[in-house]
Amino acid sequence: MCSWRESLLAVGALLLSAAALAQSAALPGIGRPATPREIAAWDIDVRPDFKGLPPGSGSVARGQEVWEAQCASCHGVFGESGEVFNPVVGGTTRADVERGRVARLTDAGYPGRTTLMKASQVSTLWDYINRAMPWTAPKSLSVEEVYAVTAYVLNLGGVLPDDFVLSDRNIADVQRRLPNRDGMTQRHALWPGREFGGSARPDVQGSACMRDCGGEPKLASFLPDFARDAHGNLADQNREVGAQRGADTRRAAANQPVAAATSPPAPANAAALAQKHGCTACHAIDSRILGPSFREIAARHAGRDDASTWLAGRIKAGSSGAWGTIPMPPQSAPDADLRSIADWLARGAAP
Ligand code: HEC
Ligand code: HEC
Repeated sequence: MCSWRESLLAVGALLLSAAALAQSAALPGIGRPATPREIAAWDIDVRPDFKGLPPGSGSVARGQEVWEAQCASCHGVFGESGEVFNPVVGGTTRADVERGRVARLTDAGYPGRTTLMKASQVSTLWDYINRAMPWTAPKSLSVEEVYAVTAYVLNLGGVLPDDFVLSDRNIADVQRRLPNRDGMTQRHALWPGREFGGSARPDVQGSACMRDCGGEPKLASFLPDFARDAHGNLADQNREVGAQRGADTRRAAANQPVAAATSPPAPANAAALAQKHGCTACHAIDSRILGPSFREIAARHAGRDDASTWLAGRIKAGSSGAWGTIPMPPQSAPDADLRSIADWLARGAAP
């Protein structure tokens, strides 16, 4: 390698590591900035307006090969199998393709809901197959294979003809043939749905505010107790990845409206504060992330008379050496909030 290239590379490397240092100084000793290639590898979403869709194409015929080799074992040769998941294909008609709404979605007598009955965006179908399928080897399909197998699924559903070649140039036209393209509405509350007598007013409304926004949001509605355990215990169903844990839905909800100032802080309030102030990036209730779990902190300091005051002080000042080699930087949340969290820890950090 000639010397000017070598020194250019060395300067480049220096600049890079200087940038890395400047960024990671915010959390000393923790991580490094993601590289552009790492970001590109994650940034694969395809939006309904097709932003993010890589250029390319694939035919129905090629899609049939991909489907039969890599998808049919789980989803059935015609996408009809309900064995590993709901059928992908079925339940849509030519009239639905014309109308843009799947009639059988409102027919209580029709068994099940297939992917093609529900999908309202072809971008979602493309994106989902691209990021998640085949189940056992996600992200292993080439761009052409994703176009092809998407086209084949739509062909099985009577949306596209046998000789069709799906591409980034005609996918917007295909969107206009999707059976349930106009079947989605936001004009209903999440719970209970309109079919159960619920309101036509969405739970969430308003526009995105990016600065000078209104005051603190207040929780105004809760999942009713009778619905809490409707899908079994969520805590058993979440993967143990990252800070997110399913709530233990066998127990009564802790997220009742915030208690009056004189009574002890409701656990959900403290947990919500911990989330709001970014504590949950490093702490979870039951397991270690970067810092110790809230439960083990509570257990270690359970004997102290002044546990609440003492813990509030520790959080504010930051801590190092008490639990391991990673220090906790001083936390800048308002005193009242730190006090609520510390109170909750001192009482055992109940979820
Ligand atoms: C080993 C079994 C298996 C194979 C092989 C497989 N899938 Fe899947 N597929 C699943 C499972 C399981 C789900 C549901 C995943 C979930 O909901 O988390 C699913 C979901 C889907 C969905 C979304 C269904 C919906 O309505 O949400 C599509 C579309 C799909 N698969 C397409 C494909 C395609 C295309 C291939 C081949 C390239 C493929 N699958 C291969 C098991 C498989
Ligand atoms: C950047 C990661 C990080 C964040 C953010 C963070 N912590 Fe920590 N926390 C740690 C680490 C690491 C330790 C262990 C430090 C040690 O060994 O002394 C710790 C320790 C603690 C302790 C135990 C102190 C002791 O001496 O026993 C408490 C209490 C605590 N954190 C509460 C909080 C609260 C409340 C917040 C949010 C306001 C928060 N932490 C935010 C990483 C973090």
